[in-house]
Amino acid sequence: MGVNIDKVLITRQEIEDMVTRLGAEITNDNKGRKVLLVCVLKGAFIFLADLVRHIDLPLEVDFMSVSSYGNNTDTSGVVRILRDLDTDITGKHVIIVEDIIDSGLTLRHLKELLSTRNPASISICTAFDKPDRRKAEVKVDYRGMIIPDEFVVGYGLDFAGDYRHLPDVCILSDDGGDKE
Ligand code: IMP
Ligand code: MG
Repeated sequence: MGVNIDKVLITRQEIEDMVTRLGAEITNDNKGRKVLLVCVLKGAFIFLADLVRHIDLPLEVDFMSVSSYGNNTDTSGVVRILRDLDTDITGKHVIIVEDIIDSGLTLRHLKELLSTRNPASISICTAFDKPDRRKAEVKVDYRGMIIPDEFVVGYGLDFAGDYRHLPDVCILSDDGGDKE
């Protein structure tokens, strides 16, 4: 209600180029290794599906679902695990695959949590990044695109569960409707 797609911010072609580049970076940095890509559900499901087809390494995938508590008011950013990994990550080269980094709180906590399980290495790959909104430092090893401080949907990103299927990343206009 009152919320519409305002304009395309990133086209599907730009996304494809970005994913191709990230796949090559991951392939080059991890020669001789097998990697485990951890997809942060739900937002990263489309990105993961595209990315794996641009990585020329032995790899596994696993999925995790988390919910962050009150990012705007609670800077502790505690992450609750809704669905944990099936895989034992001990000794593995883990790459966390995320759709977008905003405050950074979710990924900081997720990385800390997975680090306690003794992986051989752990790195972060995000499709999109809004660095202006950062509250917690996170080292982003693979970054697709920096975007401005706008609420975006499409390519897996949602507004209240909608719009994930849009092939382009779009900005939502707020025509007097509720944004959140
Ligand atoms: P944060 O980095 O802990 O603040 O949380 C990042 C999460 O917030 C992402 O994984 C998304 O689920 C969600 N998010 C942040 N910005 C946007 C956006 O512009 N559109 C849709 N979801 C977003
Ligand atoms: Mg997410």
